[in-house]
Amino acid sequence: MQQVRAVVARAKGAPVEIVTINVPDPGPGEAVVKVLTCGVCHTDLHYREGGINDEFPFLLGHEASGIVEAVGPDVTGVAPGDFVVLNWRAVCAECRACKRGDLHYCFATHNAQQRMTLAEGPDAGTELSPALGIGAFAEKTLVAAGQCTKVDPAARPAAVGLLGCGVMAGIGAAINTGAVTRGRSIAVIGCGGVGVAAIAGAALAGASPIIAVDIDAKKLKTAKKMGATHTIDSSPLSGLDPVTEIKRICAETYEGADGADVVVEAVGRPETWQQAFYARDLAGTLVLVGVPTPDMKVPDIPLIDVFGRGGALKSSWYGDCLPSRDFPMLVDLYLQGRLDLDAFVSEEIGLSDVEAAFERMHHGDVLRSVVVL
Ligand code: APR
Ligand code: ZN
Repeated sequence: MQQVRAVVARAKGAPVEIVTINVPDPGPGEAVVKVLTCGVCHTDLHYREGGINDEFPFLLGHEASGIVEAVGPDVTGVAPGDFVVLNWRAVCAECRACKRGDLHYCFATHNAQQRMTLAEGPDAGTELSPALGIGAFAEKTLVAAGQCTKVDPAARPAAVGLLGCGVMAGIGAAINTGAVTRGRSIAVIGCGGVGVAAIAGAALAGASPIIAVDIDAKKLKTAKKMGATHTIDSSPLSGLDPVTEIKRICAETYEGADGADVVVEAVGRPETWQQAFYARDLAGTLVLVGVPTPDMKVPDIPLIDVFGRGGALKSSWYGDCLPSRDFPMLVDLYLQGRLDLDAFVSEEIGLSDVEAAFERMHHGDVLRSVVVL
């Protein structure tokens, strides 16, 4: 066991604190990782606000890169010294999804068996709930060995660590779930970190046009930089209807097109899901990667429209990624200069700046603040 500094959310809504935590030595199937970088994601803020569950205290942080420090006795997949990106879906290889070959759907993903604990204060010894089973706003963290994906150590840690969550979700929504490619059109509704990553993925895959939709003009500027060929300001002030505009732009490129082949919804709201539904061409694919809240309902759409428009209505968990397949591949494309992951790093900050980074999330000019340890 060792003691390290870490960012913990002790109670609902309370500012995060830097505290000392206990990190057990790795047992069977586990690894201790010396964290190099960890991005600040909306999900960390959701944990702190009690929006995910009530299992306080949370050890926050989950978009991380690091160096494996030690592994449990039976671990063969990674070894001390490996440069890894952490993932939150270590697949089991034994459930029904895995056995039929759909490893990215694994129904039984796992985390470390042992728990990290608070090392100080009146509640010392309390077990921590690591965010998404990772907990990487910490000098070191304990994870399942399967959560460590080895990638090329020549890559910049702050950039490739972001593949651990939002950036992978966005890229994967476009290229895995939506399966866009050359000769296919795509529209992305919502251009935060996830949507912009979907745009970068679509550009990588050769899709055209790539239409970015957002209610915030600042986001559209970033979208353009990341590969959008067209942008649509869908704020009420603009007076533009995104569905009409998407159809118009697609018809300019492909004669007779009546919408986009793939529409990615990266907001997580019924009204934008409905826009995505109708902005598709016949037999097009809708990809929901934005995460709705439990109170939201599927919009009231005539069933005949679902039937009549054909195609597919899909959800994209974590970009339908398989970390062992996708992380090394995307890191290689990054190193070749074909995927600009650096563009997602708006700023590098310290462990004590996480609370301030939560504040900045609301202002809209930061794609990702990345804690560098
Ligand atoms: N129409 C278009 N864009 C919208 C709308 C709307 N009605 N409402 C919000 N947006 C835009 C925001 O302006 C912002 O640019 O959606 C974007 C959301 O981005 P972020 O808040 O930065 O969130 P992000 O990290 O990209 O995640 C998007 O995926 O992982 C989930 O929980 C996450 O649901 C969220 C979604
Ligand atoms: Zn995240």
